[in-house]
Amino acid sequence: MVYQHPSDAPETANQGVLTTSNGNPVKSNQNSTTAGPMGPVLIQDFHLIDKLAHFDRERIPERVVHAKGAGAHGYFEVTHDITKYTDAKFLNKIGKRTPVFTRFSTVGGEAGSADTARDPRGFAVKFYTEEGNWDMVGNNTPVFFIRDAVKFPDFIHTQKRNPQTHLPDMDMFWDFLSLVPESVHQLTILMSDRGIPDGYRHMNGYSGHTLSLVKNDGSYVWAKWHFKTDQGIKCFHAPEATKLAGEDPNYATRDLFNAIERGDHPSWSVYVQIVKPEDVEKLDFDLFDITKVLPHKDFPLIPVGKMVLNRNPENYFAEVEQSAFSPSHMVPGISVSPDRMLQGRLFSYPDTHRHRLGVNYTQIPINSPLSASNHQRDGYMTVNGNGGKLPNYEPNSFGGPYQNNLSGATFPEAVSVSGIIGSHPYVLSDVDFRQACSLYNLMNEGEKNRLASNIADGLHQAKLFIQKRQVAIFRRVDSDYGLRVENELKKRGSSI
Ligand code: HEM
Repeated sequence: MVYQHPSDAPETANQGVLTTSNGNPVKSNQNSTTAGPMGPVLIQDFHLIDKLAHFDRERIPERVVHAKGAGAHGYFEVTHDITKYTDAKFLNKIGKRTPVFTRFSTVGGEAGSADTARDPRGFAVKFYTEEGNWDMVGNNTPVFFIRDAVKFPDFIHTQKRNPQTHLPDMDMFWDFLSLVPESVHQLTILMSDRGIPDGYRHMNGYSGHTLSLVKNDGSYVWAKWHFKTDQGIKCFHAPEATKLAGEDPNYATRDLFNAIERGDHPSWSVYVQIVKPEDVEKLDFDLFDITKVLPHKDFPLIPVGKMVLNRNPENYFAEVEQSAFSPSHMVPGISVSPDRMLQGRLFSYPDTHRHRLGVNYTQIPINSPLSASNHQRDGYMTVNGNGGKLPNYEPNSFGGPYQNNLSGATFPEAVSVSGIIGSHPYVLSDVDFRQACSLYNLMNEGEKNRLASNIADGLHQAKLFIQKRQVAIFRRVDSDYGLRVENELKKRGSSI
């Protein structure tokens, strides 16, 4: 059956009237207004102009990192009492549920890149609590490549495209890492059998940073957060991942969406590792150095709750693309630490959101807290009523919100800080290789061989002097580690 007009088709009947963006009914969505059947198109055709102009502006900047991702809604439920450590209200009762939105991502690739890249995975959770949003913006690895925010833009540039060739560049990648030896712990995880998660449901999430848990009386402990997958860890080996990158580059996005759609709701058991302030000095590494893990045998996982993802987004752009997480979005009872990376991130995320989504990014529904009340006004895209007629300053005599003065739990007030201002360096020492060494020696022969092979696949493409520098780092971790990588490089034709 050939219809004269698409609206003649029975399937499209009775679906309501199409309108322009300002609500006027549209006469024709098939033909532009022209001067006669053969004549030029008239600028008076507002629907045409409205439609094209909006289309022209559809793309917003993609995230500078973590551009490819998928997200889902769900809830967090408290299963264990940790009120002796924190007065965070959403944690104050066993059984209490808080809505969450979670976004998973790869890091280095562009928005259209393959989900099965060897890359850390982002693990970002927005808790919509009664005291505003807490964003846990972590990764699937407990450590990171660098430990000072000042290095982050350089590090990320080496994962992106070469400024001239516009190609990924193994010289850039390995040059930087071989000059930043503290990266070797994270690098060993990334190149290991854990380096390519099988989708987003089969991986853990970690705060990475040491944060703090705070009580209203000002007392505090240091805490690292762990989200352990209840689905079990599953990862891909390199050949499988490469094949999938061609056959189904959206593998992880599809897997998450389909699982939730069929009612197979993924969940994570949530734990904290606690360090009392008096124990910090007893550690043989810096607790605030994100290249280090806290040994579980000394600091066992303390159960807190469960996160369940049970609802897919209705609209990807509105909910996933516009979601904006920040480590600085914290609730009373959960707070910061002196971690240098964390301190840089506290600034960087809201800053990039203002650029990517605009100054009123927290008014976008996916980012809106359950309630917010302040004296911020105006700016692009103010859509929340702008405070109505309430005063836009404080203190005032005419109503509106006031500081509560009550909460001692906003940050660990008891931490006292003193020192000489300076660009104090981390001094590289054996401590920076010890944890990578322990990890390496936990691996069996097969795992060690695959680790060396995965490394050599990329490293052999870098210049010889870079290969040598990087192998020296592996040797410093463990001589066998260095030797294995060297042998794999030779197999690939390197004259190392
Ligand atoms: C995303 C900066 C380190 C986890 C981002 C974004 C920026 C950024 C600018 C894009 C955000 C957006 O456009 O919405 C930084 C800086 C870092 C750093 C400056 C170091 C100083 C880390 C670390 C982790 C991490 C150590 C994990 C422990 C994430 C995650 C996202 C992200 C999960 C994606 C959030 C989402 O799904 O929207 N980061 N980052 N970042 N970062 Fe970082």
